[in-house]
Amino acid sequence: MTTPPGMEKVLFTEEQVAARIHQVADQISEKYRDRDLKLIGVLKGSVFFLTALARAIKIPVKIDFLAISTFGGHSEGPPGMVRIAKDLDEPIQDEDVLLVEDIVDTGFTTRYLLQTLAGRSPHSIAICTLLDRSVRRIVQVPVDFRCFEIPDRFVVGCGLDYKQLYRNLGYVAVMDPEKS
Ligand code: IMP
Ligand code: MG
Repeated sequence: MTTPPGMEKVLFTEEQVAARIHQVADQISEKYRDRDLKLIGVLKGSVFFLTALARAIKIPVKIDFLAISTFGGHSEGPPGMVRIAKDLDEPIQDEDVLLVEDIVDTGFTTRYLLQTLAGRSPHSIAICTLLDRSVRRIVQVPVDFRCFEIPDRFVVGCGLDYKQLYRNLGYVAVMDPEKS
């Protein structure tokens, strides 16, 4: 693919992303050995990460998806407003659930999803994220598995978009939306 306008540098190459996902998948396979795990992806950002992660996990997993609408977010004004636009297909009662995120930034989205899903009586619930930008955290959330910690810069690729573009980049890149 051609280099996106405004792209400044590659943070993690496709090879680095794949290698790290395998390491985290090994941790998950170990932790949930002999249990039934359900991966819950948040559309659309976590689709690419979830599929790569699921294929690297060595135990059988179920998958389900939900979609959210957020108002505000990185450089879009005040964050915090989240609602479910498409709910899960199946209940999660008594299941071991792993919420799979593209990025945990301010924490508002993750906290909302965690509270909502916890209210459905899963056996357990944990969080796995491709990227963690903890320097921007406003509300604290427990991140159980993370692939990469990132600096306070806007990023695209591996599911993360700018105006719905660049999700399909295999690498994670810093971009300056003002130069795009
Ligand atoms: P939150 O601030 O933790 O609630 O993150 C909200 C959402 O903002 C994430 O799930 C992403 O979809 C989006 N987001 C946050 N930072 C970035 C970024 O650097 N690039 C693209 N999307 C982002
Ligand atoms: Mg987005």
